[in-house]
Amino acid sequence: MYLGLDLGTSGLKGLLMDEAQSVVGSASAPLEVSRPHDGWSEQDPDAWIFAAETVIDTLCKRYPSEMKALHGIGLSGQMHGATLVDRAGDPLRPCMLWNDTRSHTEAVELDSDPIFRSISGNIVFPGFTAPKILWVQRNEPQIFEQIYKVLLPKDYLRLWLTGEYISDMSDSAGTSWLDVAKRDWSDELLEKAGLTRGHMPELVEGSQEGGRLRSDLSARWNLPDNIVVAGGAGDNAASAIGMGTIHAGQSFVSLGTSGVLFAANDAYLPKPESAVHTFCHALPNTWHQMGVILSATDSLEWYGKIAGKSAQELTAELGDTLLPPSTVRFLPYLGGERTPHNDASIRGAFVGLSHSDDTATLTGAVLEGVAFALRDNLEALRAAGTDISRVLAVGGGSQSRYWLEVIATILEIPVDIPKDGEFGAAFGAARLGLLAATDTDPVDVCLPPEIAQTIDPNSALVPAFTDAYQSYISTYPSLKGI
Ligand code: XUL
Repeated sequence: MYLGLDLGTSGLKGLLMDEAQSVVGSASAPLEVSRPHDGWSEQDPDAWIFAAETVIDTLCKRYPSEMKALHGIGLSGQMHGATLVDRAGDPLRPCMLWNDTRSHTEAVELDSDPIFRSISGNIVFPGFTAPKILWVQRNEPQIFEQIYKVLLPKDYLRLWLTGEYISDMSDSAGTSWLDVAKRDWSDELLEKAGLTRGHMPELVEGSQEGGRLRSDLSARWNLPDNIVVAGGAGDNAASAIGMGTIHAGQSFVSLGTSGVLFAANDAYLPKPESAVHTFCHALPNTWHQMGVILSATDSLEWYGKIAGKSAQELTAELGDTLLPPSTVRFLPYLGGERTPHNDASIRGAFVGLSHSDDTATLTGAVLEGVAFALRDNLEALRAAGTDISRVLAVGGGSQSRYWLEVIATILEIPVDIPKDGEFGAAFGAARLGLLAATDTDPVDVCLPPEIAQTIDPNSALVPAFTDAYQSYISTYPSLKGI
């Protein structure tokens, strides 16, 4: 048996999988985000531990005999968060998350030094880890001085599980301190933050061993001794492992709190000026590129809170047949944007409202706005030399067939829906647990799911959506001017 733990932004999920990769079951625990100021986004690292304990307790209760046969654990996590710990391994402050943009000035400052783009292969985005540390150095110097290690969220979970300071390549690529071509920390980049290699965890590949479960935890849950914990991956690379997106030419779209258009590459192909991310993949000697938007399902959840309806209720009101776009445009920049704008201070908007517009019109505009932002990402990836001709859909938002039809029509590419099952980050993490604990070839393990259905672009509506996309892209410069 293998356990995948995915530490997301809105919850932690544990998924139990057997040797044949059949999913035995899963359990989740919710997580809250705190936004004490505009642009800030934080979580208490100990809430992650509490969520992991709850999830593992539940799995042990539901699947006692299967958990007793646990052989490997894999970790996946929300990327980029700065989890600062002292010598005792205790958090020094709340974690500043991937969508925390308070350090935008520091990001611009670091990014203006060409060495960051040339070694890390990426723009220094405000959500990345390095600018956050500069912000702490300037605004909370007493905390900066006590930093013993800088950990990514899933690696704080690993510290609790194994007692070890270890990270993997895919997640570490999002810090701005990794030499992404060499798959090693860059001493030069760390020095710019007043840090050294000693402040960072040891690096392993995602599919390699990255610690063993602590004996007191094995005893607490009545698990075998010495369970292998894999290096694991950032949540997007972990989803790719779950979807079998490991070879050049394979892609997926993820509709989670963030929205991601992900393409696997068999070589390191940096193109920072396009604002795409070029990171290590979770398997040795592989890389990937992705466009990232900060608010995908987050936009729908936000609108649902205002409308007093759940995301499911909102999308159900649209019916089953794709409607042409209305005149309302939604720009999903609720907390700034990454690809393609790299703009932390831009904010979202509804534009073109009329008396006749109702909740359903605005829901449609939100779904379209997210899809237009993904179209921007597709164009950015193309500019970076990576074409995408079809995508697999993953993430909570992919439960809405209507949304997937909007996306297929706006991206003008087919969207494949996997057969019922779990193919996301927790499943990918469980696969990494299997790879780290056995001698299996990743190519035999990381297979794509069976496709239940393909959603083709609605060709009759492509021209209307193309016009709407033009009005969408022309809105950003005006919005920026306000
Ligand atoms: C990727 C990113 C997000 C988070 C969400 O660069 O910031 O996709 O990983 O969990």
